[in-house]
This record gives sequence, structure tokens and C-alpha cells, in this order.
Amino acid sequence: MAKDKTIFTCNDCGGTSSKWAGKCPHCGAWNSMVESTLVPTGESKNRLSQTTYSGLTPTTALVALSDIEAADFDRTPTGLDELDRVLGGGMVEGGVVLIGGDPGIGKSTLLLQALDSLQRAGLKTLYVTGEESGAQVALRAKRLGINNSRVQVMAEIGLEKILSVLNHEQPNIAVIDSIQTMYSDQLTSAPGSVAQVRECAAHLTRMAKATGIGVVLVGHVTKEGALAGPRVLEHMVDTVLYFEGDTHSNFRLIRAIKNRFGAVNEIGVFAMTEKGLKGVSNPSAIFLSTHPEPVPGSCVMVTLEGTRPLLVEIQALVDGGGNSPRRLSVGLDRDRLAMLLAVLHRHAGVACADQDVFVNAVGGVRISEPAADLAVLLSITSSLRGKPLPKGFIAFGEVGLAGEVRPAPRGQERLKEAAKLGFSVAVVPKANMPKGAAKKEFEGLTIHGVERVEEAINLVRGLG
Ligand code: TYD
Ligand code: MG
Repeated sequence: MAKDKTIFTCNDCGGTSSKWAGKCPHCGAWNSMVESTLVPTGESKNRLSQTTYSGLTPTTALVALSDIEAADFDRTPTGLDELDRVLGGGMVEGGVVLIGGDPGIGKSTLLLQALDSLQRAGLKTLYVTGEESGAQVALRAKRLGINNSRVQVMAEIGLEKILSVLNHEQPNIAVIDSIQTMYSDQLTSAPGSVAQVRECAAHLTRMAKATGIGVVLVGHVTKEGALAGPRVLEHMVDTVLYFEGDTHSNFRLIRAIKNRFGAVNEIGVFAMTEKGLKGVSNPSAIFLSTHPEPVPGSCVMVTLEGTRPLLVEIQALVDGGGNSPRRLSVGLDRDRLAMLLAVLHRHAGVACADQDVFVNAVGGVRISEPAADLAVLLSITSSLRGKPLPKGFIAFGEVGLAGEVRPAPRGQERLKEAAKLGFSVAVVPKANMPKGAAKKEFEGLTIHGVERVEEAINLVRGLG
């Protein structure tokens, strides 16, 4: 049998070369060549000729879309409700899930808990650990109170060995913790390199599809915030979940950013306890810090993550900066902050050009929706003036470059949640005002609709 040959492929143009080069010989991109294996195909009769396709015979039958039965996937609930919620109901046979997050956030803990629960439900489970020894995994299990678990554990990093065990054992669900520690003999590059990560994930994905084993790959997030390898894994797998949260706080969010079997942007909420992760079924108020009295620079907003509203406190600090003022945001988009400051200056006449501006979404949540704009602006003006917003105050709404306040999707749900949690004053986009007779009163919440940024700022000044 011919031996697999190592080639180098350019990540940018896809061109190949038999030798590694710092610069792609085809497109000239730097540092884009990665190692991959070329499996010899032998002398195929269907080999594409460069000059003619006429000798090709079709080997795959075609089916009309209408003749294919739309079967829903069988899902196996993991027994952890919050995880099932982001998975779209549970693990799918042959489905591949990538779960990413910072080190220490709780990926291994969550997956060990999930495997234990699946195993108790009668499924065959395998936990492959490349980072810890069996004894360390056992210690964690003890801490979780599941030390009598029948989950099979394998401490191994060689891809070929793992594939042969998977093929032989045929577990229902296998966890690979983590994909960055795995390596294939076929490549010379080090474990964790883009080539290795991609090769290992591709083999495991193929194995999952061929055998129906559900595979969960754990991936570390790099400093730039991407899963190792320039997003190479995300397109290969069926589901991508991200674990987020502040390791200093107990709460963790798990977010689906891609899901071929369910909705995206759904979140699951967990609390890290002494005995592992516990689902939080009613999470709307956990990201509020508890100030006994309102403080300047703080504004609560209602964000909608998937199907559930979450109340999150946005904090801002505006302070004398000098010649090169800094703009820093944690949990919010920095470019958007710069844009909002420009809108604030142009349309409301509030200038922070010579000040440092810091904004933070409390609790380590990341808010990507523009509905946070109004709360960001109001917390900035509050900090600038040193005056707190009124007690029980919330705001949400997108702000445009022309200074207009645009409606947020599903405003009624957001208002309902704020009312339920006892908030008393809301400033929201006019288009999000509840219709009908009970115009401005909504279960104890007084609602003000605004159309412009300056209107919102003046209104808040009048309230406080
Ligand atoms: P871990 O699952 O090892 O994180 P990851 O696999 O994402 O790197 O989680 C480790 C952290 O969680 C560690 O700091 C200890 C903490 N922890 C608890 O607080 N309670 C527990 O029951 C367990 C097992 C871990
Ligand atoms: Mg781990």
C-alpha cells in the first residue's frame, strides 16, 4: 500500500506545496501553509481529466427534495436541563459538538456530570482525557459525588489509538477533552497546532458520522478569543457551544453559536458550586450587583438571550484621561462604544473626548445585541455627572448614528420581566411602548418612550 504523503496547504488560497514555506508560493500569503496528509487514492477510473469530463460516469443517484422524508433527529437528553436547552433537546446520534471556553471555566466538570447522567440512563459513555490522568478525573468525580460512576475513562492523546477504541467499544457518547492535546502519527507538527487540531477533529467527525457515536470535543479558547485554529473547527462540527462567565463569579453561561439541530443564541445558565455545576432555571436576576442605594454610572438593561430575558447591570466610569484618553469595554463591543460616544457628543452635546471611558457588563456576560446602547449611554452620562439614575430604573434600545432610538426585538417580554422583578421606571424606544389603554403603567412599571438620544438624556435628568 502506498504511504500517506505529507503535503502543505495554504489556509488562504488552498494551494499546495510538497515543502513547507513561510510564504505561500501561490498567493504570497505569509504563515498560511499548514501541514496535512494526502491519502493516495490509487488509480481511480473516475479521476478528473484536465481536458475532458466526457469519460465520467455518474455513481451517485439523485433524489428530488420532495421525495426525501424530513425526519426529526432523535435526541437523548443529557439530564442537565440547561445543557439540553442549548443543544436543542439533547445529544443527537452521530452529532459532533464542540464546546469552547477559557481554561478553568468548568468544561471538564460539566461534561463529566453529563456523561455520568447519561450513563445512569443506560447509555454507554467514554471520557477521553488528554489533559489529566485517570486519578485526577477520579478525584473530580469524587468531588462531584459521582465516584461510583460507570463512565469509562481513557487517558490517551494518540488519535489512532482513540479511533480504534471508539470503533471497538462503540459508545453512545464520547467526550474528547481536549482536542488541542490530541495528535495524529500522520503529521509531524506538535499537538495543538492548527494542522493537528484540524486533522484530529476531521477524523473524529468522520468516525461519528460513520458509526453514530455522539462526539463532544472540548476546545480551549485562544487569547484572541477564537477556538484554537482560525475557526477551523467551527465549520466541521454540527454544534458549537461557548462557555462564558467570569471565573471569579459563580455563574456560567453556555451559549449555542451554531447548531444544526436546534436554535442558536439559546443560553443555559449554571452556577459553579462545591459539588459541580448546577442549572439555574430562573436566571434573570443573577447579573445584577446589589447596591443598597443607586450609584452613579450604573444602569440596568434587559437583554434577550435566546428565549429568556436577562437583567444585566451595565457600569460605566468616566474619568479624567489627559492627552490619550482610553476607551475600554468588558463584555461589550469596543467599536460600538466609540460609535456611541460620537453619537452622544454630536446629538446630545455631551463630550468625553478628553476623558477615559470604561464600561463593563457585570458578571462576565457578553452582550452583543445593540439593544444595550441606551443603557450604555445613560450609564456614561450618569458617571460623567456623578449622579445616579433613579431607583428601580431600567433602559434598553438601539441607538443609531443619527441619534435615533430604535426598537429592540420583543420589547414587551423585556418589560414584563423588569416589572416582574420589581423595577419601577423604564426608558425604552417609543416603538416598544405597550399598546392600548394602560399606556404608561405596566404592572407597577412606569414606562417612558423616547425617539431620540437627547430626549432620553433630558428625560432621565428630569426623573432624578
Ligand atoms: P474545570 O472543569 O476543570 O475547567 P475546564 O475543564 O474548563 O478547564 O473546572 C475547574 C474549576 O472549577 C476549578 O477552578 C475548580 C472549580 N470547581 C468547583 O468549584 N466545584 C467543583 O465541584 C469542581 C469539580 C470544580
Ligand atoms: Mg478541563
